[in-house]
Amino acid sequence: PIKDIESLEDIKKMVNTFYAKVRKDDLLGPIFIEKIGEHWDEHLSKLHSFWQSILLNERTYTGHPFPPHAQLPIDKEHFDRWLSLFTETVDKLFAGDIANEAKSRAYKIADVFQGKLEYIHRR
Ligand code: HEM
Repeated sequence: PIKDIESLEDIKKMVNTFYAKVRKDDLLGPIFIEKIGEHWDEHLSKLHSFWQSILLNERTYTGHPFPPHAQLPIDKEHFDRWLSLFTETVDKLFAGDIANEAKSRAYKIADVFQGKLEYIHRR
């Protein structure tokens, strides 16, 4: 039986499964590999705290999520792929209120990022 996201261990499973898919993706993989290179452990541990803060209210992430995206070659097509891989990952592993919250927060944040990128590129 499929359960909800309840612990840091669950968050790690979600994040690690998602980025394993992202790395193999024809559209997103090359962008991450170019930027992250050998630093996957660091990237994954930042993303564990990011989602731990959002979903479990355990405030371990103190960074600024948008700035590293400002210079990436990404548009709607990339965000759509990112969101479809994320949703697919969450749905395969978990079900419940927190799992739904993970998906809805991902959509909201992706929307904010796209709005900021559009603004940057219009100037
Ligand atoms: C960091 C790519 C969407 C959350 C990064 C980095 C890359 C990246 C390459 C590492 C940057 C660096 O270390 O220089 C992408 C791409 C996306 C995308 C290609 C979509 C097409 C998102 C979304 C979220 C997100 C939708 C949140 C829901 C984060 C966070 C970090 C990060 C929290 C770490 C920021 C920090 O350094 O504190 N992303 N990202 N990303 N990304 Fe994304």
